[in-house]
Amino acid sequence: MNKAKIAVLVSGGGTNLQALIDAQKQGILLSGEIKLVISNKPGAYALERAAGAGIDTLVIDKKSCVDHAEFEQKLMDALAENGIDLIVLAGFMVILSERFTSAYPKRIINVHPSLIPSFCGEGFYGLRVHEAALKYGVKVTGATVHFVNEIPDGGEIILQKAVDIQDGDTPEILQHRVMEQAEWTLLPRAVEKVSKNIANE
Ligand code: GAR
Repeated sequence: MNKAKIAVLVSGGGTNLQALIDAQKQGILLSGEIKLVISNKPGAYALERAAGAGIDTLVIDKKSCVDHAEFEQKLMDALAENGIDLIVLAGFMVILSERFTSAYPKRIINVHPSLIPSFCGEGFYGLRVHEAALKYGVKVTGATVHFVNEIPDGGEIILQKAVDIQDGDTPEILQHRVMEQAEWTLLPRAVEKVSKNIANE
């Protein structure tokens, strides 16, 4: 079987990348193979996780690019050079332009730590999402895996899972529960689902 060639784009700690690496080892992610991990941040711990798993890494430092267009062009060149079929945003804290997203229709997926359409869009990323959920006082939050289009967090939903908020939650405690109960299982399942469709094309 032809496996979908996957690039995972990261900016930070990379626990979602780790979940994908583990899923690949466990045979949960079967129809796709992580070929490349790209970070926009030189020191991202996710790069060490990738290297530890024997996956090629690449840093495209956004700060060393003259503008956003140059950054995206470098990304596109790397994706083309590596024959990438599927782009997974796993804690990638850069908003991609329409020029970029329209080049890969239904070939970019993102994990977001809330139940979209709540607490999403520009400015909602990482801990900020959980801070906003706690501030609003919702009793249920969760995670969403969706296709990426030109609207930040606005593409078609692939999988979604609810997680309860508990008394005394801090943003950090809630972030960890959402990851553990939703993101780390949901993302590998969604990546397998989309990879399977690509592999069968
Ligand atoms: C995850 O919670 C992910 O859903 C979120 O950032 C965290 C990254 O953690 N992504 C966004 O907020 C994107 N809008 P990780 O680096 O440990 O996977």
